[in-house]
Amino acid sequence: MKKMLIANWKMELTESATLDLTFHLKKRLKKISQVEIVIAPSFVYLKEVKNLLGKSNIALAAQTVAAQQKGKFTGEVSAEMLSEIGCQYAIVGHSERRLKLNETDEMINHKINQCYHAGIIPVLCIGESAEQKSSGQSDTVIVRQLHAALEKVDGLPENELVIAYEPVWAIGSGQFLPAEQIFPFQRTIKRTISSLYSEKFYDENVRLLYGGSVNSIIAKSYWASDFLDGILIGGASLDLEEMYNIAVEGE
Ligand code: PGA
Repeated sequence: MKKMLIANWKMELTESATLDLTFHLKKRLKKISQVEIVIAPSFVYLKEVKNLLGKSNIALAAQTVAAQQKGKFTGEVSAEMLSEIGCQYAIVGHSERRLKLNETDEMINHKINQCYHAGIIPVLCIGESAEQKSSGQSDTVIVRQLHAALEKVDGLPENELVIAYEPVWAIGSGQFLPAEQIFPFQRTIKRTISSLYSEKFYDENVRLLYGGSVNSIIAKSYWASDFLDGILIGGASLDLEEMYNIAVEGE
């Protein structure tokens, strides 16, 4: 599996800014071949972005997905709908959704199930808050989040899974967890997923990304890490040159 760079555009860009950035990324990242590039625009622009990308090397992710398959759920967007328009990935359980939009572990588990039913690869976000970190609970939180999200999932272990380890305190704060400090977290994540499925599944089907205040100055250390398979970026992904420089470092 290739290393991966996911750009999470959150609710930051208007239609024209989304299409403009997509257009330029497509041209600028044309030669990137060793890194799988994935962009996650707002739901409302997914189809337009897909059309603009055409057969480019850039894949599409949704920023979230409904926990239900279909029916009377006003405002929700199902995994099947996303799959239909060519979305390959869906971010699930981002800390902004967990903390600001009351997304629960149970909902996250349902969302992951829905993804696999529709042929979408989930990008499961996990990570501890500043308080949990300072009270020594990082490991407990990560293990709990992984168990809740990944237990009894139809579609595992035969499909791919992406995990984004994003300490909440590092997101959008300018404070990052240095690459060399990720090993203990990778060990916990690998041990937990291996116990739920198998080590073979982890080694062959799981990609582990780091996310949290990564920019082009520090990206290299994450790409160089033996424990990581890529990076998820928020703020830096809104800037064409930052995006380009981060992607190039991974080649
Ligand atoms: P950031 O966001 O790169 O701006 O910290 C990462 C994320 O929210 O996934």
